[in-house]
Amino acid sequence: MGPDGDDMSKFYIATPIYYVNDKPHMGHAYTTIAADVLARYRRMRGDEVVFLTGTDENSQKNVDAAKRGGETDIQKYVDRMSALWQRTWDELGITNTDFIRTTEERHIRGVKQFLQVVWDKGDIYEGTYEGWYCAGCEAFKTETEVQDGKCGEHQRPVERISEKNYFFRLSKYRDDLLALIGENAEFIQPASRRNEILNYIRDEMEDISITRETMRWGIPLPQDPSQVIYVWFDALLNYLTAVGYGSDEGMFQRTWPVDAWIGGKDIIKFHAALFPAMLISAGLPQMRRMFVHGHFTIDGVKMSKSLGNVVDPVSIAREYGNDVLRYFLLREVPFGEDGDFSTTRLRERYTGDLANGLGNLVARILGMAEKYLSGRVPKPVSGSAMDTWISYEDNLNQFSSHEALRDIWDLITFLDKFIDREQPWVLAKIDQDRLAAVLYTGIESIRHIARLVWPFMPEAAEKILSALGILEAERKSGYNASKEWGGMREGMQIRKIDILFPKLAPN
Ligand code: MSP
Repeated sequence: MGPDGDDMSKFYIATPIYYVNDKPHMGHAYTTIAADVLARYRRMRGDEVVFLTGTDENSQKNVDAAKRGGETDIQKYVDRMSALWQRTWDELGITNTDFIRTTEERHIRGVKQFLQVVWDKGDIYEGTYEGWYCAGCEAFKTETEVQDGKCGEHQRPVERISEKNYFFRLSKYRDDLLALIGENAEFIQPASRRNEILNYIRDEMEDISITRETMRWGIPLPQDPSQVIYVWFDALLNYLTAVGYGSDEGMFQRTWPVDAWIGGKDIIKFHAALFPAMLISAGLPQMRRMFVHGHFTIDGVKMSKSLGNVVDPVSIAREYGNDVLRYFLLREVPFGEDGDFSTTRLRERYTGDLANGLGNLVARILGMAEKYLSGRVPKPVSGSAMDTWISYEDNLNQFSSHEALRDIWDLITFLDKFIDREQPWVLAKIDQDRLAAVLYTGIESIRHIARLVWPFMPEAAEKILSALGILEAERKSGYNASKEWGGMREGMQIRKIDILFPKLAPN
């Protein structure tokens, strides 16, 4: 049990692990920031959060990138790049509790153990692969996915490959997968993605080659070291190996399964078909939920390292602040849909929603508390923010982040109107009791708003709670208690607050 009797339970969140053939772009930042919002939200609820991200290093893409950069020591290259990814997440304020690299010993051990289990089960067999391969996707392509000799996703030529490989009996699990996904509406969200994956499993899914004969960089197949394990088969296992699979059984039992995975629609077949089948084969429980998001485009074109049209999240965050980037990404695009990143839109939202919205409301109410009440919290009056909390929780439980933010902004708009209507500056001259009641409602509502935005904009939330003089108390107070009306007590001392979102200089 956590403070105030809230249930405390483990909550394991994972993002995809990223290729290190370049530095992070806005699309990667979006995934990781979304996961961080969820992590902070679950922590705020009192859960013990395990939050994993990492780097996918055993990929031919990384080898190619190292060579392009004139680096012959691939390990040195991935070391340097993985460190750059870790620094980026630190700089963006990401609160991951672990960072897995697929060149780490704990991962390699777990992969070997897993392969042995699946091998013993009879789910791996030797065969010949013949077909198209896209180095951009690190995946074989079916005839329909290849147009004019090019991969539709990457617009680069595919290669014809024919080699001895080991195969995983993916098609053996077709019915199990259809049942798993068919019976579990929450497994893949949003629902449109679920239908897409069901169609794929039913109509297209075939056994998959899980080794490469010609590649040298990667984890050798223990049962035939002339083969290297296919990067996707190895990478998916990071979710297990990071929490002790193959190295710390006790930790694994305590932590597995992933409670929420957040990642892009481009890799859903791997996560919602291949990986679940691998888990069934190994007799392990499934991940609980996958929240699948769309892609950010630049001028309508998918942003990707291969296409070269990337936006750097760190420079945007340095210019506008981490909170602003977080807010923009999660508010602008309905989670699950594609969106376009544009600095113009970011600036519009900054001015409209943050400077004139949240920032102005807080400054207004705290300013009046200072002016009319010398910053002393007046006698509580009744009220409630529970409707907002309920809707916000419903939305966040489905990771509908834009709607959760809209819930908060509805409250902000309501309060703005309330203040305009009540006109405290007039009440100050004619009705002290009513003035105190109006300002109490304003102050207590701001406490709720700060708590509600905390997972999204931790810096702003903490500044507000500090100004209210309750930051430390709110950190300790239980989640359920904090949702109740009346956290601000009579006589508490409020401080003035610096402008949260200063006016932007013209671009
Ligand atoms: N290494 C694999 C994942 C292995 S997980 C076992 C991979 N890496 S990646 O670096 O190419 O992309 C990982 C994720 O980054 C995508 O699934 C997606 O979440 C995010 N994005 C990459 N480009 C994106 C956009 N343009 N827009 C939004 N997110 C995108 O695939």
